[in-house]
Amino acid sequence: MGIELQWDIPEPEDAKGLEALLGDVAAACFEAEGVENAGFAVRVTDDQAIRRMNRETRGIDRATDVLSFPTVQFPRGKTARRCPKRLRREYDPYLGYCNLGDCVINLNRARQQAAEYGHSLRRELSYLTAHSAFHLMGYDHMTEEEKSAMRDMEEKALGKLGITREDIDFDGLFQLACEAMQMAYCPYSKFQVGACVLAEDGRTFKGCNFENASYGATICAERCAVGNAVVNGARRFKAIAIVGSTAVAWPCGICRQVLREFSSADMPVIVGAYGKGYVVKTLGELLPEGLTPEDLGVTI
Ligand code: THU
Repeated sequence: MGIELQWDIPEPEDAKGLEALLGDVAAACFEAEGVENAGFAVRVTDDQAIRRMNRETRGIDRATDVLSFPTVQFPRGKTARRCPKRLRREYDPYLGYCNLGDCVINLNRARQQAAEYGHSLRRELSYLTAHSAFHLMGYDHMTEEEKSAMRDMEEKALGKLGITREDIDFDGLFQLACEAMQMAYCPYSKFQVGACVLAEDGRTFKGCNFENASYGATICAERCAVGNAVVNGARRFKAIAIVGSTAVAWPCGICRQVLREFSSADMPVIVGAYGKGYVVKTLGELLPEGLTPEDLGVTI
């Protein structure tokens, strides 16, 4: 039982740690499925190589995040747990397990997605490996029903390892706020502010301050990020990061109240100054006794 990690690109320093982590992910996936003596290869590659593979094997000339190449075929609608004979037949005495195939991960895309979702690269690699593991065990996501069954299995397996959606990557979110800060329009104060909201569904939304010749018409970075989230259908937030260019960008009173509309009092607020790090507070610390939608009988 296990995985074999192969590097098509230069090995990072923590390659051994990563192999152990992805080995644990694979083991959790097999356990969730109820499969013994199985394994697969995880090949880490880049944008260019995965694009070539995607073109050559599926006729799709595009880079993607992960590709799965099963060696054991399962009848449509059946997954590995219902085909023990097939797995026994494919047992590889040299490896000591049944080789289910190859999972190919694009490290460029994994990095990008980790930043977008506001979590660590290790977490993103765990997700991609689990997703591929279930493909190799006969799962697919062609229909909504299949998709939700596959998602349930991924969550079951990753949840065993404590890898849940609740773990927030503060560094990643703060980095996104720093990126947003570069877009600030602040000719009057010259104080650039960036913000990034992490929505409950894992999406992130950036915002920056934009000022006005009539000073009071200025919109802060936080409310810009909130607007960006709302117009994209996100109304529950898990965290926000805020950064100021020359000083810590403590959110103003109006922004604290606006955030409270869509977030609980225990939501972390990551706040800092560019190049100087950050501190983490809860929204309740910044806005005790805030007025909430529930106070007015509204549920979001
Ligand atoms: N500002 C924000 O965007 N967010 C904060 O948390 C504090 C203040 C902006 C508004 C204005 O453009 C500039 O910073 C100076 O107040």
